[in-house]
Amino acid sequence: MTDTGAEFVVVANRLPVDKRVQPDGTVTWKRAPGGLVTALTPTLATREAAWVGWSGAAASTSLDEQGAPLDEQPRVDGIDIHSVPLSSGEIADYYEGFANSTLWPLYHDLLVEPVFRHDWWDTYVTVNRRFAEATAASAAQGATVWVHDYQLQLVPAMLRELRPDVRIGFFLHIPFPSYELFTRLPWRRELLEGLLGADLVGFHLPGGAENFLTLVRRVLDLDTSRDPVGVRDGLGSITTGTRTVRVGSFPISINAADVADQASKTLDRAAQIRAELGDPRTILLGVDRLDYTKGIDVRLKGLEGLFAAGRLDPAETVFVQLASPSREQVDSYIAVRNRIERSVSHINGTYGTTTSPPVRYLLQPVPRDELLAYFMAADVVLVTPLRDGMNLVAKEYAACRADHGGALVLSEFTGAAAELGEAAYLLNPYDDQNVMDVIEAAVTDDPTAKRTRMAALHQQVRDFDVDLWANSFLQSLAGAGAANEEIA
Ligand code: ADP
Ligand code: F6P
Repeated sequence: MTDTGAEFVVVANRLPVDKRVQPDGTVTWKRAPGGLVTALTPTLATREAAWVGWSGAAASTSLDEQGAPLDEQPRVDGIDIHSVPLSSGEIADYYEGFANSTLWPLYHDLLVEPVFRHDWWDTYVTVNRRFAEATAASAAQGATVWVHDYQLQLVPAMLRELRPDVRIGFFLHIPFPSYELFTRLPWRRELLEGLLGADLVGFHLPGGAENFLTLVRRVLDLDTSRDPVGVRDGLGSITTGTRTVRVGSFPISINAADVADQASKTLDRAAQIRAELGDPRTILLGVDRLDYTKGIDVRLKGLEGLFAAGRLDPAETVFVQLASPSREQVDSYIAVRNRIERSVSHINGTYGTTTSPPVRYLLQPVPRDELLAYFMAADVVLVTPLRDGMNLVAKEYAACRADHGGALVLSEFTGAAAELGEAAYLLNPYDDQNVMDVIEAAVTDDPTAKRTRMAALHQQVRDFDVDLWANSFLQSLAGAGAANEEIA
């Protein structure tokens, strides 16, 4: 970092780097480019940039009650990394607790019962303040700060208190719920007020933006626009008395050209995968974090129903589920893992042979190239969430298939359905019959019809890629920030 701080600061619960401690105690940091870091690479490359986040591990030193300062600040590939330390108790109460056992289920339509605990809330406030302080210390005068996701909803207002000179954008990566769900939160006012510290608050879909406007109007009694919010356009607005907060819809995407290019290099491996799976007539594929929102059990049940009814032949079908372990200490994640593993073994026990189980289930993150090879090998990818803010797996599969092969089964309850719903095989994951009908259609449909659908999906993700997401958000933020600076 320069002495004066960074001009562009990303604030997210996770850092974009992995920390490795060698046996001799030496620490190395390696950039781990997820969707967000890839999306922001051009912006990060052209400016003095910093990233404030948590390393994913418990702090090795104990933190005092005032909140600890930053523990480590390496520079990795030109980005100043500001690692915010969390104690193991804070990980339990802020990350596993308030973020993933209160907000996550509440914002995902109560798929499991949210837990409301005042001690978790207190830790959420403490940790958000630590992130805000770390950000305030790392940003240059007049910097642009982009805060991400539900773990950090208090940071915008806390940061504005500390640094009124900076422009603040906030983007929510998960669904934003209706008035009826959100107002269950004992801390509903505080969370809304936290977000209103931003100049621009962004959601994937117009519906989330409109829910936010309604909540601000009804809970905080502030004046808001009432017109429908557009996509990347037609922003909503909230007048707080001193500033105008703009509210918009910015559907996130992927670097589709890069994914297509990488996938085109995996064809040999894709053919090998098909052979290793016994050269079945149909390969079905699921790729997800192991999360109860993703509907992995929905697709397993649909598959079992199709085998039971003789509509799909288990001798000619292989379903590969690549699942990445996630939030493994949280009860609802332990429960869904148990349900899925029971179902996999039931299907294999009932419909498999000792040498050819119809379900292949892997609970480990798969290297990127291998994942793309699976996408190229798959005849049908099953994306069946009960609720999902966007779902990048659907977009990655569409981007891979520049050959227009394969078929995408997509739940109506994903953000991606708003863009891909017409060309995908759309299903309602709450309707057993529909799940079976749609999976069967995606397997058996006329190949020409499938190619037409995949061509449209591929074009959509090429036209609306992640650069458009980042640029449209940052341009709207520049406009919103400049307007507020004029008022001040
Ligand atoms: P979420 O953000 O809820 O995890 P998304 O579908 O939007 O869901 O993004 C998930 C990302 O994680 C995608 O880039 C996907 O390719 C990757 N991913 C999911 N499961 C695995 C896995 N088993 N191995 C490797 N990468 C995975
Ligand atoms: O998309 C929602 C999200 O929680 C992101 O904020 C996060 O990067 C991703 O899912 C993985 O979750 P976690 O950081 O809890 O492993």
